[in-house]
Amino acid sequence: MVRFSELGLVNSRELFAKAVAGGYAIPAFNFNNMEQMQAIISACVEAKSPVILQVSSGARKYANQTLLRYMAQGAVEYAKELGANIPIVLHLDHGDSFELCKSCIEYGFSSVMIDGSHLPYEENIELTRKVVEYAHQFDVTVEGELGVLAGVEDDVKAETHTYTRPEEVEDFVKRTAVDSLAISIGTSHGAYKFKPGQKPEIRLDILHEIEKRIPGFPIVLHGSSSVPQDIVAEINHYGGQLKDSIGIPEDQLREAAKSAVCKINIDSDGRLAMTAAVRKVLAEKPAEFDPRKYLGPARDKLKDLYVHKIYNVLGSNDKM
Ligand code: G3H
Ligand code: 13P
Ligand code: ZN
Repeated sequence: MVRFSELGLVNSRELFAKAVAGGYAIPAFNFNNMEQMQAIISACVEAKSPVILQVSSGARKYANQTLLRYMAQGAVEYAKELGANIPIVLHLDHGDSFELCKSCIEYGFSSVMIDGSHLPYEENIELTRKVVEYAHQFDVTVEGELGVLAGVEDDVKAETHTYTRPEEVEDFVKRTAVDSLAISIGTSHGAYKFKPGQKPEIRLDILHEIEKRIPGFPIVLHGSSSVPQDIVAEINHYGGQLKDSIGIPEDQLREAAKSAVCKINIDSDGRLAMTAAVRKVLAEKPAEFDPRKYLGPARDKLKDLYVHKIYNVLGSNDKM
């Protein structure tokens, strides 16, 4: 077992307290390879932002648990080398079992999400509380979830029953002792969050109702990519076929970040940015076969995207 503090990582507790008080959110960017990690760290160092390096269970399988432990340790040292000792959290995204959360904690994660949102309410509480009891022994922070985000293929507008029920949050937070709570207010995963003709709007009214019930408690927003239309157009210009991809408007996320929303998850926008850059290089230089020649531009575009997010969506610049 390696403790996260030995790797130079921090848990999310203090970062969230400062973010809630300061009216900004900590970026939670997903990663599974070196270029993504470099882009995240260099962007956050440049903007002097704390960061949550987020790993899904699929990403953990893809990258390998041992490599990830050293990559996270490397990220801490890389940030220092770039000139800023920014706080870095290593977080499990959408943990689906106690065993996975335990294993991540043993491999140096400083924060885990146990996503019991698909379970009946009492079972969600039971599983979440079990993970919290284990994690807190090692000072690892835990994110729980209440309410189910609509699937990529689902019609968000019709899925009102999946929104978080404000009347449940106080009981859930008390009985599980979680450190933060992910809620469902109309965001969803992937690049197809709304159908054409739908108004891309999240339910800030539900968020404010939740905040009234648990004042100052750290709230997390998943599915918060904005699907920049210039990047989608670039992908399609260079041979891609993304049709009707629509995300959450950045101004709505910025509004949410000013409240108790203290962690905003962004994955798809990064995937889109890398894809656009790779497609451009391969389309313009079909004879190119050195991976550095297309992964390098992908990394640069990803870094630019993250810097933009920090200043325009999260507001976490200069908060290290
Ligand atoms: O919430 C989902 C994240 O975007 C991770 O996606 O499971 O394909 O790695 P993934
Ligand atoms: P996006 O698909 O909107 O980027 O959401 C990512 C996410 O919520 C990861 O947990
Ligand atoms: Zn998510």
